Amino acid sequence: MAENDNTRADFNEIAEQTAAFAEDAAEVAEDAAEEVAEVAEVAAETAVPEVAAKPTRRQKKKAKKQAKKDKKAAKKTAKKERKVRYKEEKIAAKQRKKAIKIAKKNGTYRKEDFEEPDGRIKVGIIGCGAIASDYHFAAFAAEKLRADVVGLCDTKAERAVAAKKKYFPDATVYTDYHQLFEDESITLIDICTPNYQHADMAVDALLSGRNVICEAPDAVNSEEAERMYAAARSSGMRLTVIRNDRFNENAEYLRDLIAKGELGDIYDVKCSWVNRRGIPGRGGWFTTKELSGGGALIDQGAHILDLAMWMMGDPKPVSVSAMTYNCFAATKVPNTSRKGARRGDPDPNGIDDVEDMAVGAVTFENGAVLQFEFSWASNIYRERRSIDLRGTRAGAKWLPARDDIFYETKKGKQKTRSVQKQTFRNGHAAHIHNVLDVLLGEEEVLPVYDIDEGSRLMNLVDAIYRSADRDGAEVSVV
Ligand SMILES: NC(=O)c1ccc[n+]([C@@H]2O[C@H](COP(=O)([O-])OP(=O)(O)OC[C@H]3O[C@@H](n4cnc5c(N)ncnc54)[C@H](O)[C@@H]3O)[C@@H](O)[C@H]2O)c1
Repeated sequence: MAENDNTRADFNEIAEQTAAFAEDAAEVAEDAAEEVAEVAEVAAETAVPEVAAKPTRRQKKKAKKQAKKDKKAAKKTAKKERKVRYKEEKIAAKQRKKAIKIAKKNGTYRKEDFEEPDGRIKVGIIGCGAIASDYHFAAFAAEKLRADVVGLCDTKAERAVAAKKKYFPDATVYTDYHQLFEDESITLIDICTPNYQHADMAVDALLSGRNVICEAPDAVNSEEAERMYAAARSSGMRLTVIRNDRFNENAEYLRDLIAKGELGDIYDVKCSWVNRRGIPGRGGWFTTKELSGGGALIDQGAHILDLAMWMMGDPKPVSVSAMTYNCFAATKVPNTSRKGARRGDPDPNGIDDVEDMAVGAVTFENGAVLQFEFSWASNIYRERRSIDLRGTRAGAKWLPARDDIFYETKKGKQKTRSVQKQTFRNGHAAHIHNVLDVLLGEEEVLPVYDIDEGSRLMNLVDAIYRSADRDGAEVSVV
């Protein structure tokens, strides 16, 4: 009789659970539909009109059909994934219940042993200086439903304490990053320390079974960076180095246009990131070659080189000729760039042995050439960031807030079309969002950073410095 009662109770429980899961599934579907409608509404409200050729009726119909097809496919995949998740959750809940029953029977039950994990990724942040305070903390705080920052580390404890106070009240503060690794719950490490620390910290984190987000540049040189890539490969953990500019919508737009062949073959590129007075943390780690790996080139230039090659469709650099200059180390010129002044910890008696300007040209396997100029300080009108791309069919200029496309109509008229995609997008937050998407497998999202691309960029940076050391002699990019 008691046996029958138990069976019935179990049966009722499962029936109740099934009904609850069905209810949850309906709710999730409803939420998803609402979200899609909301996103569409926001997109419609915020869309910036483009001066583009009007699509034909046939094109419109085709696009509509494709969108419908994509939507259906996405819905089907999401449904499948939800089904698997519900099944797993159901099994886990049953097992948990059984384990509680046994523990209670044995008198070993403790509530804390059976607290449900919240499913969020536990994060430890190393380095609570300028970049972490400007972008990473806010980005993780905005992701609090998916990521939980449980550890904050800085050798200057007061910086970690300030972050705890402002953003993550439950986090533990550390001054030695090795102690942070003792928290087994942490599965994602975010490295925001000076460049010379990146390789050691990333290797330690990866080999201890953590995924890693690391600030740019990857490391101080390609040899150090290769240690990171090798650790990622051997551990099977994910390494991503911040590529915030790749989330600039105008850059994304141009990249797509080039990929579709609208500019023809890109054979000439000119890129700049030049500051008038913006040497960061003068005398501190930023301006000490051993600690930073270099100056304007590795700090600013690496971002623009990466972006330009990404837009060009990842051609292989084969040789480079470059010069670097250090013209401002001896001067007391005030730093008028707000950003440059705030970064790093300046030291009036410290070292400044890195370039404040780098110029040069890279040639690619496909015959294209890229000229660059990067400066922390130079006597120009004002700061400028741009990439000019010339193709066999059309040309384009990327500016952070606008693209200009230079083309010819069928009748031979020369035209310029301007596209303003970017209102404001926080590239760091977008990159962190991408990492969480990938780690949680929530959407079919591709990781924005790839180790091979990191390696290609670091090899190019190394080659530029090698050429400059030889007074601009042409050197091969390995
Ligand atoms: N992606 C970008 O656009 C971008 C912009 C700025 C800086 N960065 C990069 O971010 C990194 C940090 O730059 P920043 O401007 O924040 O520098 P910063 O000097 O302001 O901050 C670095 C912090 O790391 C701490 N630190 C140093 N050694 C440590 C250690 N062993 N353990 C724990 N903490 C330690 C310092 O005390 C400091 O608070 C650099 O690699 C820099 O190149 C990237």
